[in-house]
Amino acid sequence: MIKIVSSCLILFFLSVNLQAENGHSLWLRSQSSSPVSVICSKKSIVTEIARQELLNGWQGQPGASIKLIVKQDKQVKGDGYKLTPEGVQANTDLGVLYGVYDLLRHQQTGETINPGIFNPSYERRVLNHWDNQDGTIERGYAGRSIFWRNTKDSLNVTEADKKLWREYARANASVGINGAVLNNVNANADILTDVYLKRVKAIADEFRPYGVKVYLSAKFSAPSQVGGLKTCDPLDPTVIKWWQAKVKEIYAMIPDFGGFLVKANSEGQPGPQDYKRTHADGANMMADALKPYGGIVMWRAFVYSASDNDRAKQAYEEFLPLDGQFRDNVIIQVKNGPVDFQPREPFSPLFGAMKKTSLMPEVQITQEYLGHSIHLVFLSTMWEEFLKSETYQEGEGSTVARCTDGSLFPQKHTAIAGVANVGLDVNWCGHQFAQSNWYAFGRLAWDNKLTSDQIADEWLKLTFKRNVAETTDWQDNFLKPVKQMMLDSREAAVNYMMPLGLHHIMSANEHYGPGPWWAPKRMRKDWTPPYYHQADTVGVGFDRTHTGSDAVSQYHEPLHTLFDNIQTCPDEYLLWFHHVPWSFKMKNGCTLWNELCYRYNKGLHQVRDFQKIWDKVQPYVDGERFVQVQSKLRSQSRNAQLWKDGCLLYFQQFSKMPIPYEIERPV
Ligand code: GCU
Repeated sequence: MIKIVSSCLILFFLSVNLQAENGHSLWLRSQSSSPVSVICSKKSIVTEIARQELLNGWQGQPGASIKLIVKQDKQVKGDGYKLTPEGVQANTDLGVLYGVYDLLRHQQTGETINPGIFNPSYERRVLNHWDNQDGTIERGYAGRSIFWRNTKDSLNVTEADKKLWREYARANASVGINGAVLNNVNANADILTDVYLKRVKAIADEFRPYGVKVYLSAKFSAPSQVGGLKTCDPLDPTVIKWWQAKVKEIYAMIPDFGGFLVKANSEGQPGPQDYKRTHADGANMMADALKPYGGIVMWRAFVYSASDNDRAKQAYEEFLPLDGQFRDNVIIQVKNGPVDFQPREPFSPLFGAMKKTSLMPEVQITQEYLGHSIHLVFLSTMWEEFLKSETYQEGEGSTVARCTDGSLFPQKHTAIAGVANVGLDVNWCGHQFAQSNWYAFGRLAWDNKLTSDQIADEWLKLTFKRNVAETTDWQDNFLKPVKQMMLDSREAAVNYMMPLGLHHIMSANEHYGPGPWWAPKRMRKDWTPPYYHQADTVGVGFDRTHTGSDAVSQYHEPLHTLFDNIQTCPDEYLLWFHHVPWSFKMKNGCTLWNELCYRYNKGLHQVRDFQKIWDKVQPYVDGERFVQVQSKLRSQSRNAQLWKDGCLLYFQQFSKMPIPYEIERPV
């Protein structure tokens, strides 16, 4: 009995320990460090953090002497850094800090350190939090907001708040993220009032030493809603003055405030078009107010209206005519695809179209359409595919990455945004593996040429490797299979949710399970799945060719022709661009219907294989994380079955063709 009790106690303490370790440390769980001496050429709060990080995390030669030097070097850009055999050199204090995190990352992952210069791809690497001031998060699946509480009385800043914000800022800095929009794009106008601005200032104060700037989503109607003005017309002098005064007030509190993010004339939000003005009129007015302080406006291109016009075409049509009319401190923030963060979309044709306007990509880290925090989906492969997409803006080599990072044409400012997946959950993101998406966003924002393979490799080593002695065995039996699972996970989700270019066929509102059938009469057509899949007795898919909505013509050649022709359109975009007959012969010889069945079936089996892979790595993972991931994979597997069965049985009503025998029967 005593034995049982004592072993239970030991287990209890072990799990408490692991819980503490697994809590907020994310990928920053550095193990035992060796002694090192650090010499800084400059003393500041930032370089002091860099020094401390080295002292705490050094795993290089014991007793080594490292120099941190702040010194101008023309080849180093922005907050970039130079790694030298002696240490880190940068033009800014922050550059030194980024260099230190990189050095430590190399040591902790066992990668060799190649001396060289490391410049960021984008100047601003920003998380967009869709957090409401009542503490809820739109499309957030990891608990409540880390910034906001549910009532105005609880706006008092506590020590626990500050600690959490510092931990968050440190995690961001460790992967190069240098900005955070603290409130929902569907903004509440009163974020700009004193009571909230005080809390924004307190957050900014905690972020500053880690180089993370705060930004706010601003509601276009704020001059009326909180300023009492009769109009919000961007050309009205009283409105202009109101924004100028508001901006002045903000900068007096937060001298390094980043600027505004604006969702205007989109999904019911107010905007300049309410006054017969253009997006440029609205954005420029705000940009002029921010300009004297170095602030920017990130103006979203996520616009579409309930019309018969194909939703995928609308942003391009609204924004392209305004090319060249925006101030140089305005950046148009464009979602990766032309519809809405679907499991797979072609890139938005605005990338590669606007040539005189800075564009910034917006990706979604939170998994609104990819299984929330229940499905294991490593999104890096999706973003890599997107960033490497050829737009042909200036011929071959004009990737989305190059159209946005200033390397194709000069841009005053460059930026990239990711909709955050962070909440109060003890593991920050709801799913252990969802942390890898936060990590991947930061790494790709710093270097948009990185591969997902490298990112997954780094993240797994930093997050799961317990001591450096775990070498070949750990690599073969944990690292390799788990990395492969991560790299396959997005394609698996596409397969069991929306293969072959299907999109927007999820269930209503919560956007989680399958719902290709959902079409209440009272609902806007462009919010219902049948509008997107167009299934009928002839076939399935949205005709965006020259005989359909002609969205293909928004792409440069040779993409225009490639997508327009059903024979050359890549399989992964087939039903995005074409209404395809059920018996159409695919490139591999299968009929469309059979191929659809195979893809859904494959997706389901991929998830079942993930379950097997995970069960096998149990010896390498602490009990808590093992069980959490195992249980989530079970749910994912059940959900994949539901997606497959639901979609195939629904589409079968139109195809009237049998489900091939080798495919698992619906349950
Ligand atoms: C999607 C999402 C909304 C969000 C919107 C946006 O439509 O479902 O919750 O507000 O995107 O990006 O503005």
